[in-house]
Formats: sequence, C-alpha cells, structure tokens
Amino acid sequence: MNTSLPELEAHRLKSLPKAEVHLHLEGCFEAATIAQWAKTEGLALPRPQEDLFKFSGLADFLGFLDLACGLACTTERLVALSYGLCQRLADNGTGYADVIFNPTHWHAWHGRLGAMLDAMDAGFKAAEQDGLPRVGVCVSLLRTQSADAAIELVDALRALRHPRVVALSVDGNEAIAGRTGPRFAEAFRRAGDAGLRRTVHAGESSGPEGVWDAVNVLGADRIDHGVRAIEDAALVRMLVDRQIPLGICPTSNLVLGVYPSILDHPIERLRSAGVRVSVNTDDPALLGASLIGEYALCRRTFGWTDAMTKSVARTSIDASFASSDVKAQLLAALKDW
Ligand code: ADE
Ligand code: ZN
Repeated sequence: MNTSLPELEAHRLKSLPKAEVHLHLEGCFEAATIAQWAKTEGLALPRPQEDLFKFSGLADFLGFLDLACGLACTTERLVALSYGLCQRLADNGTGYADVIFNPTHWHAWHGRLGAMLDAMDAGFKAAEQDGLPRVGVCVSLLRTQSADAAIELVDALRALRHPRVVALSVDGNEAIAGRTGPRFAEAFRRAGDAGLRRTVHAGESSGPEGVWDAVNVLGADRIDHGVRAIEDAALVRMLVDRQIPLGICPTSNLVLGVYPSILDHPIERLRSAGVRVSVNTDDPALLGASLIGEYALCRRTFGWTDAMTKSVARTSIDASFASSDVKAQLLAALKDW
C-alpha cells in the first residue's frame, strides 16, 4: 500500500476493479535484489544502492535495464521476479495485467526464448495458484533492432505459440532510433496474421508522427504512452474516431523528463477530448510508481470524480488483452464500486 496516501483514499483505490495494460517486467526489480544478485555475481554496481534508481533520462534508464536484466540469469531468479510482479498487482488491487517483456535486455537468455517464457510462466502460474492476479505477456521488439531481427523474433513466437503470449509490442528509444515504423511493418503484419494483438510505444520519445505510424503502419490495437498526440489536433480526432486506447504512465513521464510537472501532463486534456485513456505504472519499482498512486495523482491534480475514475478503470479493462471471462468478471465488479 502507498503509505504517502491518506489511508481511506488508498483503501478505496485498492478496491477499484481495474487492469494494468502498460507494465514492463524489466521495471519490477527491487534495488535490494539487484544489489544482492550483483554481490553474488561479483559485479560492481554503477552507483550506491540508495542512488541506483536515479536516472538522467530515457537513454540512461534503458541502459540500466541491460544491467538489471543481465543479473536475472537463472530460472529461479526469473520465476521469483515474475511472481513478485503479481504480488505487486495484488497490493494495488489490480485484477489483470498485460506485461511487456523485451528479450533484448536479458543477455543470459539470448537464443533461449522458449525457456525464458517457460520460466516467466512458471512464476505467473504459481502466483495464480496462490490467488494472485492473472497476467498476459506482450513480447517486445526494441526500436533500435533491425527489420530482420524483428521478423526472426515474430517467427519464433509463431513457432512457439506459447499460451502466455498475447501480443507483440515495440519499445525503446525513438529519439535515438528515428522513424522506424516502416522497418517493423512486416514483423507486425506477421504477428497480426498469427492472431497476436499489437501494442506500440509511441508519442513518448517521438512526437505525434510516431503515433500516426503506430496506427497506420503497425496496426496498433493500443498505444503505450501516446501522450504527445496532444500536439496534433487531427491525430487526437483520429484516436477518438477510431477509439484507439492510450496506456498512459504519468509518473514515468515526469521521472524520465517528458513533462516537467504533472500540471503540464496532457492526460486530462486527452481524456476530456474523448480519447480512451488508462493509467499505468510503466516500470513501477525503478520509477517509484504504484497504480493506486497514479490514480490518486490524477484525482488530486485534475479533480477526477468517482465517475471519471470508474470510467478510466473501465477503459483499462476493455483495452486489456485479457480473456473475455476475466474482462466480464472485472467489469461486473466495477459496476458495484
Ligand atoms: N522500456 C521500459 N520502459 C520504457 C519506456 N518508458 N519507454 C521505452 N521503452 C521502455
Ligand atoms: Zn513502457
């Protein structure tokens, strides 16, 4: 539970039936775990443990993911990390999550995608058996990968047909990679043909053009972030007309420097324009976010009423890639909140 929140508000928001649709497995490492694993591996940390999660921006942050994920080199560690993610969901009253996982960060597992998915799956299954929330996995490309590497990953997913995998994703740094929509078009086309859903990081380190490409070139069912769509009125109209949901992460955008203050954040302008928005944590442990805290922040800053809060929670469930059973259960519970 988020201790900086008044207890009553935290309790109410925990009881709000909701899903999380923008959450990275890579963002769920605790500092103490990283320090302990680094010690075991005889690896020096780049900074003292208390400063470990101080990032200068997205590029610095993404570099850190390579270090953290590199330490999760055994099945046991990956199972524990996956189980811990579900515990975090339960602590926030989250009923279901789509979890993004980007194989490029996990150096010890390269070439062993099936084994890696099995290890994650074992952690998620054990969590479900203990009554913790369900999870679907969105396997992610990195923006700086080549078209061939992207197609290779999608073909491997098509061959594996792993029941835990619900979607193809792409994340990473568009400011460094430049316009890469066309580079990934074939990979996304093949994923769609194979029945995978499609979710795309855009409009965080790219401007509106990245969001246009996500929809028009990659066929995105959902956009991760998408906040910089606010800079293009025609794009906002298109997102409203086509009802394409945005998985927005306010604290992440502040910590990684997309906006200087929550008062500058466009989530409320997008929501009130009719864009379907949900709130999410992105990389909760590394960026110091909790899902309850994100809802509370928006309620406090933008005056979201209970009805608005409920409507955002409904979007989170509708926009998720959960099974129809899980969605129906959560939506029924939400009606009574
Ligand atoms: N990978 C993990 N978090 C990310 C973010 N906020 N943007 C792009 N790639 C990411
Ligand atoms: Zn993200």
